[in-house]
Amino acid sequence: VAADAAADIARITGVAHHDIALTLGSGWGKAAELIGETTAVFPATEVTGFSKPALEGHVGTLRSVRTAGGKNVLVIGARTHFYEGHGVRRVVHSVRTAAATGARVMVLTNGAGGIRDTWKPGQPVLISDHINLTGASPLEGATFIDLTDLYSARLRDIARQIDPTLDEGVYCQFRGPQYETPAEVRMAATIGGHIVGMSTALEAIAARQAGMEVLGFSLITNMAAGIQPTPLSHGEVLEAGQAAEPVISSLLARVIGAL
Ligand code: 6GU
Repeated sequence: VAADAAADIARITGVAHHDIALTLGSGWGKAAELIGETTAVFPATEVTGFSKPALEGHVGTLRSVRTAGGKNVLVIGARTHFYEGHGVRRVVHSVRTAAATGARVMVLTNGAGGIRDTWKPGQPVLISDHINLTGASPLEGATFIDLTDLYSARLRDIARQIDPTLDEGVYCQFRGPQYETPAEVRMAATIGGHIVGMSTALEAIAARQAGMEVLGFSLITNMAAGIQPTPLSHGEVLEAGQAAEPVISSLLARVIGAL
């Protein structure tokens, strides 16, 4: 199916080969315009296996963008979350499609909750590693792939050259869609997590399986339950994303330009 989707993208965009793929999470959407010149924008539903976005704050489009350096970037503004209940295969379809278009680098972004008390909402952080708490995997059968350096140290170094103040942390993917309880957040902290979210880890595993190099960014939209004194709301997450969007999108565009 990924090969069919890649063929659809090549036909619609007229671009036979993409070099980099970028999945836009909440708060990161403005990056699409800043990366370079858009050669095609189209609804994700025109591509085999992609579905309508279930969520406000997710744009539901794919685009092909050409950077000043002449690289073709496939920008994925349509993410299927595991909590939608369509299975892991649907969740990682965009990543496998990106690999099938030729992309060797997968940049995954998301909006997430922060556990480290030095972090503030609106702050972007690099993902250094992940803990997959979904109980699921995109791999089937005896596929014993290595996940050492999954979030490429080489690519994180490039990001830090663009912004030396970038902090990094371990991302815990929960299934969701409910936010964590304070006890679950304490558990995440105890087992070595710094960021809590509902995406990215399963996608990163699929990207590694496809032989891609992975770079991950979280926008801290709020502090996790029990860390911040107030209840969490999707509205708050969207608002923080919108406020941070210009700054983090420009950061992301500069990092992509340097890859
Ligand atoms: Cl606190 N948890 C999860 N799982 N996802 C989030 C979040 C928290 N804040 C934004 N997205």
